[in-house]
Amino acid sequence: MEQKLDQIQSATLAQIGAAASTDEIENIRVRVLGRKGELTQILRTLGELSPEERARMGQKSNAVKAAIEEALEEKKSGLSEAKISELLREEWIDVTLDGADSSRGFSRGRMHPLSQVQYEVEDIFTSMGFEILDGPEVETEYNNFEALNIPPYHPARDLQDTFWTEDGNLLRTHTSAIQIRGMKTHKPPFRVIGPGRVFRYEEIDASHENTFYQIEGMMVDRDISVAHLIFIMKQLLSAIFRKEVKVRLRPSYYPFVEPGFDLDFNCLICGGKGCRVCKHSGWIEFLGCGQVHPNVLRMGGIDPEAYSGFAFGMGLNRLVMMKFGVNDIRHFMGGDIRFLEQF
Ligand code: DAH
Repeated sequence: MEQKLDQIQSATLAQIGAAASTDEIENIRVRVLGRKGELTQILRTLGELSPEERARMGQKSNAVKAAIEEALEEKKSGLSEAKISELLREEWIDVTLDGADSSRGFSRGRMHPLSQVQYEVEDIFTSMGFEILDGPEVETEYNNFEALNIPPYHPARDLQDTFWTEDGNLLRTHTSAIQIRGMKTHKPPFRVIGPGRVFRYEEIDASHENTFYQIEGMMVDRDISVAHLIFIMKQLLSAIFRKEVKVRLRPSYYPFVEPGFDLDFNCLICGGKGCRVCKHSGWIEFLGCGQVHPNVLRMGGIDPEAYSGFAFGMGLNRLVMMKFGVNDIRHFMGGDIRFLEQF
């Protein structure tokens, strides 16, 4: 038995020395000291020995057990210390490193060009006393069409192919729906703009997207005329392009205004001489506008005998394309970081 105990001790200590993980250590412990372990089995047979032998072997096996336990403990704490220092080495971060002048570089977030220009337009309008309104992207048919003087079966609905939801609402096709919300919450006189994302069921190409951005505007007071509209538009464009901009109105048709116009500004790329961007006309088509139709005022709870107003709706993508020389509208929703990083 003595030999056997020596053998267990030396074999186990060797195994412990070779163990490379705390799992292995635990396995060794179970194999030797566990309920059915090698050493435990031997201890069970002590009772068969003579009293002196039993005392001697008892002492001996206790010493073996203690030696093994100590070795296990020591190795275990060695292994977990090693693990901790390995983690510390691998996950170490120098928080004092300066990203800006190291080769790592600093990757900063930036604002989408549509947001940049939208905020700029908002600032210009708030400086002229306009309030900024919001509206939902899923609109009622009433706010998007009916209340804007576009009843069911009106041919103007065909101009704006629409995504409908199953419960009969729609993705707003224009921010003009925000006008309707504005009239419900404001009493004249008021001036509001409503920026937002709009949706149309479109074939997509370099100048058509199914998702784009507009900014709607509306001003209602006594005796508001087209002259006020022209003044505000010139203020806006000169502030955005940082130079005097000429505008012109062409008669156009929108059911919610009468008279209705398309507003152009002189091409800033060629200075009006004619180029590819302005299709050699010298003018850039910018927005739809007009005097708010009496039906629309009435549906908004405003007396058209007492008040008048103008409204306009501009395409924000178009404006950004002009300002930064972007030649394909698909870039805006494309999510290509190389495009976005240029602004
Ligand atoms: N909602 C029109 C569109 O999306 C733009 C527009 C035209 C808005 C005339 C207006 C307006 O407020 O008076 O094409």
